[in-house]
Amino acid sequence: MLGSAAGGGAPQWNCACAVCLDGRADRTQDTVAVSGDGTVWYLINAGPDIRSQILRTPDLAPGPGLRQTPVRGVLLTTAELDHTLGLLSLREAVRLEVYATAAVTEALAPVRSMLGHYTDLRWRAMPVRLDGGLDLDRLTVGRKRPRYAADLDGADWVSALRLTDRRTGSSFVYATCLPAWTAEFDAFVAGADQVLLDGTFATEDELTRATGRPGSASSMGHLPMASSRVHAARHPGTRFRYGHVNNTNPSTADVVADGSELLTS
Ligand code: MLT
Ligand code: MN
Ligand code: ZN
Repeated sequence: MLGSAAGGGAPQWNCACAVCLDGRADRTQDTVAVSGDGTVWYLINAGPDIRSQILRTPDLAPGPGLRQTPVRGVLLTTAELDHTLGLLSLREAVRLEVYATAAVTEALAPVRSMLGHYTDLRWRAMPVRLDGGLDLDRLTVGRKRPRYAADLDGADWVSALRLTDRRTGSSFVYATCLPAWTAEFDAFVAGADQVLLDGTFATEDELTRATGRPGSASSMGHLPMASSRVHAARHPGTRFRYGHVNNTNPSTADVVADGSELLTS
């Protein structure tokens, strides 16, 4: 778990809400690193804090070759800035492999064109097999476009990912932007060992209470924890935890910390 906060992190630089001011908030923005063999790693999203997150994670240290890195690629689940700005900070890569849906790829055309001047950028559709022993399944869970891409079409804007260890069959689901718990999502998480859920908001009215901004959590693409806990309880064999925590969310139960490990076996 490289970072566990929603966009802005916690504390957020310009926020004087109760959570940001009380001094305990210490979360960088949502990014997860996954590996099947502990040697080859993929980033799930690349947030604005990616440089410091990689530097403080021993598994991601470079070497032994001069520009060798265990980071094999980046899997994008959205085109939101809090999940993609870090791509620009990876421009020193000798080669950068990024995997995304067609909608996310189109939205990020400006980033692709900039990055292509700095690194050997390989931009592809989501693979089903990853190096290092992982299989990948993707489910479209939402159609919310980033604000900067509001006028684009496309369908596969927000994805959940399920990574399965080919040797052991154990699996991890990443779903930190989940607008609703559909029957398809229920089947997608069934039997998983670990699930990282959307912890943006604890309740539907949290943001309005904290900041006065209108809009429910679900209408912003984020099913609140109070709702997802009810669904999660129907899967007693699966460990559910929460990431992408907004700086207004004071929850601590089942909320992951930066740097924690989510082991599936
Ligand atoms: C989200 O998670 O809904 C977006 O990251 C929001 C934003 O970028 O402000
Ligand atoms: Mn976000
Ligand atoms: Zn705040």
